[in-house]
Amino acid sequence: MATSLSRYLVEQQRAKQNIPPELRLLLEVVARACKSISHAVNKGALGGVLGTATTENIQGEVQKKLDIIANEVLIEANEWGGHLAAMASEEMDSIYVVPNRYPQGEYLLLFDPLDGSSNIDVNVSIGTIFSVLRKPETSEKVSESDFLQPGHAQVAAGYCVYGPQTTLVLTVGDGVAMFTLDREQGSFVLTQENIRIPEDTREFAINMSNMRHWDKPVADYIAECLAGKTGPRGKDYNMRWVASMVADVHRMLIGGGIYLYPAESDKPEGKLRLLYEANPLTFVVEQAGGKASTGTTRILDVEARKLHQRVPLIIGSRLDVEQAEASIQGRAS
Ligand code: AHG
Ligand code: MN
Ligand code: MN
Repeated sequence: MATSLSRYLVEQQRAKQNIPPELRLLLEVVARACKSISHAVNKGALGGVLGTATTENIQGEVQKKLDIIANEVLIEANEWGGHLAAMASEEMDSIYVVPNRYPQGEYLLLFDPLDGSSNIDVNVSIGTIFSVLRKPETSEKVSESDFLQPGHAQVAAGYCVYGPQTTLVLTVGDGVAMFTLDREQGSFVLTQENIRIPEDTREFAINMSNMRHWDKPVADYIAECLAGKTGPRGKDYNMRWVASMVADVHRMLIGGGIYLYPAESDKPEGKLRLLYEANPLTFVVEQAGGKASTGTTRILDVEARKLHQRVPLIIGSRLDVEQAEASIQGRAS
């Protein structure tokens, strides 16, 4: 019989005591929210969800209607269950504290409600990325500083890709499991456990149109990849750039690869957000045997100084990330 997400979580807790009931509720609620977002995505023009809203987020990005819808779905699904103290989102200026009318729980939820916004209107894979932290015990009243924890403090993380299939990928720090949405049953069904990322790759993902903004070490590393079999990397690479990190990382989780969004002269801190994108995807990728780095520091060790902090990111197959790091740091690899 197929294993539903609920059953998987219950059985994991029974076997390993690593998913207490509040965390299980949280993960089930996030999955339920992803299911609603998936339905909205699938309706497309018929549901009036395409196009741009009239607002900008705190990072100055024009919001799409679906950025706002997905954000609301996640808030509404998660605020009343008693499992959370507060939430933070790429699409909200500041944290959302669970209202007084509901009980407050011990966890904090962070999310990029809709990753790959530029792909919504053109029917290309997009996703939701989420991260779960424990509220520090020292803190009485929840505040923004409670969210400023390093990525290695995450208790769970994952993402949902809305593509040809709707796929939920999850880690609670004990490997990575994948679930596929069964639309007839209305539930996520376990389709792969103990996912391992191939250790090296012949595929890289970077936005090549930004090449003029790269530092020399990054440009040199990509030049080495482009040089192919007779170059220093000794293999022919293929390139993919979906422009939805969640889809690029999912592709790499299944088949190996390396994804880079480095610091660029016009984006000196990088583009991706540490707390909503880099940390959760790194937790998943590390749990599958891969690696992620700023070029010099392990992503999960980066100090979080502010909620919407950006970070340069290199993520993917272990050996390739190590080689990219070595090359960027000017070490032989
Ligand atoms: P978001 O849609 O949440 O703002 O994230 C988009 C991110 C990432 O998913 C993607 O890989 C990258 O930005 C695309 O950047 P370019 O537009 O520079 O290609
Ligand atoms: Mn994103
Ligand atoms: Mn987003």
